[in-house]
Amino acid sequence: MAATRNSGFDDPFYQPADQFFPANNKIGLTFDDITLATLYSEILPRNTQLDTTLAEHLHLNIPVISSDMDTVTESRMAIAMAANGGLGLIHYNMPERQQLSEVSRVKNHVHGLIQEPITVTPGQLIGDVLALIEQKKFGFGTFPVVDEKGKLAGLLSGHVVKPRYAKRKVADALTPRAQVHTITQKELGKDPITRADKFFTEHLGIHKLLVVDDQDHLRGLFTMSDIERIAQERNAQFKPARDARFHLVCGAAVSATRNAFGELDRERILNHVGGLVERGVDAIAVSTAHGHSKGVGDTVKVLRDAFPKLPLIAGNVTSAAGVEYLADCGANAIKVGQGPGSICTTRIVAGVGIPQMTALYVCSRAAAKKKVAILADGGIAKSGDIVKALTLAQAVICGGIFAGCNEAPGEVVEIGGKLYKQYRGMGSFAAMKAGSAARYGQPSNPTQKVAPEGIEALKEACGSVDRVLAQLIGGIQSGMGYLGAANLAQLREKARYIRVSPAGQREAAPHDVVELKTGS
Ligand code: XMP
Repeated sequence: MAATRNSGFDDPFYQPADQFFPANNKIGLTFDDITLATLYSEILPRNTQLDTTLAEHLHLNIPVISSDMDTVTESRMAIAMAANGGLGLIHYNMPERQQLSEVSRVKNHVHGLIQEPITVTPGQLIGDVLALIEQKKFGFGTFPVVDEKGKLAGLLSGHVVKPRYAKRKVADALTPRAQVHTITQKELGKDPITRADKFFTEHLGIHKLLVVDDQDHLRGLFTMSDIERIAQERNAQFKPARDARFHLVCGAAVSATRNAFGELDRERILNHVGGLVERGVDAIAVSTAHGHSKGVGDTVKVLRDAFPKLPLIAGNVTSAAGVEYLADCGANAIKVGQGPGSICTTRIVAGVGIPQMTALYVCSRAAAKKKVAILADGGIAKSGDIVKALTLAQAVICGGIFAGCNEAPGEVVEIGGKLYKQYRGMGSFAAMKAGSAARYGQPSNPTQKVAPEGIEALKEACGSVDRVLAQLIGGIQSGMGYLGAANLAQLREKARYIRVSPAGQREAAPHDVVELKTGS
């Protein structure tokens, strides 16, 4: 057991958070100002668990969230994040209707047993079905057909849902009930996925299996591609983040919208969030630059009253008082970060903001008391920063790291033989003009008079989110292995810190060599 004993020689140097941060309370510290000390470990990095709970109904399999920024998260990014076990927050720099569609795209992306399949009726026209697909952005074209009593009438195959048949009735195009493959709820047994898997193996070329009750009412739908994906997922270490109905999780950001009189527009906020909830959104983020403010608090209260169980994220703050305020208003998870972001200029323009590790420490202590989670938002440039952030926070929010990915909105541009994607702050002049001004407390129709708090920039194109996340997760697991932490709770409990001198910072990066290949 000698290996696990704590030598007294370490203690004055490598201190736990509650000693280290108060001892450094005269200076704001950020990621590169500190490093973590190793501890005796029996934990192999690959065996570490990264799941995290942000609210009673919001559980992620990796603690990574993509920012609600218009050059980072729309449905493609949110799908990729959730498929890897994390969460994407769809930004709000778009018409409200479009944000609803973006959420629908994520929620309809992958299905296991689809308990409430989208159905059509025999009397509809194929043209109506095409319009429905377009309106709801469905990525599929085959629909069970049910009569007015919910009884199965047949299956409308994607092969006939074509504009050339637009004027034909569903009744004329469907595969009749007698030829549709079904299984009863009772026959599914205790392991429906295995049962469905067996069915698809036994029925060559059949890709849909409908579930009915004893009265032939439609009760669900399996698709072969979903079953195959699920079979693969069973072997994967980090499973997709899904809701109780097996849909990918998705978050959406809203602002504290005001009406023409400058008052909080409660009705509009409630209508919009009601629409998002209808589409199955798993978390709403009330995203502003200054979360410790009446507008944000009131928005959170309004949403909490209307949607008692909906996971609410709110921010941004950097003080314990800010965390306490938003927690009291009803937020479950609070975004911490003012000015650390790679495209932020808040600290330069407004002279305001706190270096991220100090802010996270202060906020984490208030959050623990209030039993809410905190999310480290901004300033993360490498996986080591995530490990440091996770010693205090339940998850991290990243913008710049994902902005160069294929799944981020926007086109790739070539400059001097290199490929880039645009990345801009939501407080940049261009983004505020496109709608995000409310986030920065600026007029909703900004003129040249507004003071931008972010810049427009480029990120080098960096491939898929899968690839970027694999690197980040590898780094997080490695950090946990060094600290002997099997899970994130142990990481928070075990972390010990020491400050790093400027020479120490130089020592931490490759030095005194001619670099041939970067670490990534
Ligand atoms: P990273 O470092 O991941 O930061 O690129 C992303 C986070 O930065 C915040 N954000 C801004 N902050 N002005 C700011 O001061 C801005 O224009 C701006 N845009 C985004 C936001 O919290 C995001 O998640």
